[in-house]
Amino acid sequence: MDQFTFYAPTYFAFGKDSEQKTGELVKRFGGHKVLLHFGGGSIKRTGVYAKVKASLDAAGIDMVELGGVQPNPRSGLIYQGIDLCRQEKVDMILAVGGGSVIDSAKAIAAGVLYDGDFWDYFSKGKRVEKALKIGTVLTLAAAGSEGSPDTVVTHEDGQYKKGAGGEALRPSFSVLNPEFTVTLPPYQTACGLTDIMAHVCERYFTNTKHVETTDRMCEGILKAIQVEGPKVIADPQDYDARANIMWAGMVAHNNICGVGREQDWSTHVMEHELSAHNDVAHGAGLAVMMPAWMQYVMKHDIMRFAQFAVRVWDCDMDFSDPERTAQAGINRFRQFLASIGMPGSLTDIGIGAGDIPKIMSHLNLGDGHTLGRFVQLNAQDVQSIYELALNA
Ligand code: NZQ
Ligand code: ZN
Repeated sequence: MDQFTFYAPTYFAFGKDSEQKTGELVKRFGGHKVLLHFGGGSIKRTGVYAKVKASLDAAGIDMVELGGVQPNPRSGLIYQGIDLCRQEKVDMILAVGGGSVIDSAKAIAAGVLYDGDFWDYFSKGKRVEKALKIGTVLTLAAAGSEGSPDTVVTHEDGQYKKGAGGEALRPSFSVLNPEFTVTLPPYQTACGLTDIMAHVCERYFTNTKHVETTDRMCEGILKAIQVEGPKVIADPQDYDARANIMWAGMVAHNNICGVGREQDWSTHVMEHELSAHNDVAHGAGLAVMMPAWMQYVMKHDIMRFAQFAVRVWDCDMDFSDPERTAQAGINRFRQFLASIGMPGSLTDIGIGAGDIPKIMSHLNLGDGHTLGRFVQLNAQDVQSIYELALNA
């Protein structure tokens, strides 16, 4: 195991009616005037907005609002949010929604205290050291942004979808009421399940040895999704399954299961090219790219893939032919994704062979000209993975 430091000080209020604590939590973490940030209106339709507002009013918190965050959040609204926070002297941002709303809130929080273009954090990889405080009320279990120090947004000038990070972006508190997720359509629910699994897999496939504790934590989260996921697809009102999934989304990405080990993240970068241009849901793009990546890199460490197959997907270990076991695990992962309604190929999400050159020319492999850590992929490898994903 590698050396690491781990400090993840978000305060979580979890369970039924937990949103009633929102106003008190804003106060407790030093907020006097909040920007209530939300998406395209789901929180108004579902009654979440009214409940959160009632809690803020009861605590005497002043607020201004900015709605309209789109899935795969865009820079235009972030610039608007930064101006609004400065004019209104906002001292905390309260994001009410899914990962896109939270990420947009984080970008605004960083931008308000930055003397320059907030996009510098994304384009130049500058760590965010100062930001307004952030609180979240989560309505979708997926991105894990409620407990992570990261944000991913798209700049409309060039459609670049990029991430930025820094401890200042970790929310001070997050309110997680699983009841808020029962209104999610099955497809969006399944996208969330896939994203949660992908966050684990990006950490699980590592070259670091002797990481049994975090391996077992990763496998536990994947198993939980395997068991609880189909329950909410069959019955969206299943509170207990929704609750387990909501917490899985947090632990999958606040890095508790990723510490002390090299992580990969190439699938996420390849996926972001899809959601930046085609407005594919992030989870759907991952459902296509993750198995294709696995197929391409499997031979790099057959035994790790065989472990994934046996421990997560209950495959029998074929000691005479571990590659067969490894392949069986990938196949079962694919079958699982199909069973919850996820697409299996680029073609399924409207991306054809003719789009790959455009994707490749837009993709920035960075200074090292490679992507990922488990296997360092060069441009040719990346292109081959997109091709593998075309009609998988
Ligand atoms: O906009 P509204 O009207 O709220 O509707 C949203 C949106 O259309 C809807 N929705 C949310 N909660 C709902 C609901 N509909 C009914 N009932 C509810 N309770 O769902 C749609 C999708 O929402 P979005 O926030 O885009 O989804 P998600 O949470 O999956 O977030 C995806 C974004 O997170 C980024 C992704 O790249 C993507 O942009 N990620 C952020 C990460 C991070 N900050 O650490 C890591 C992830 O890997 C990921 O990249
Ligand atoms: Zn993700």
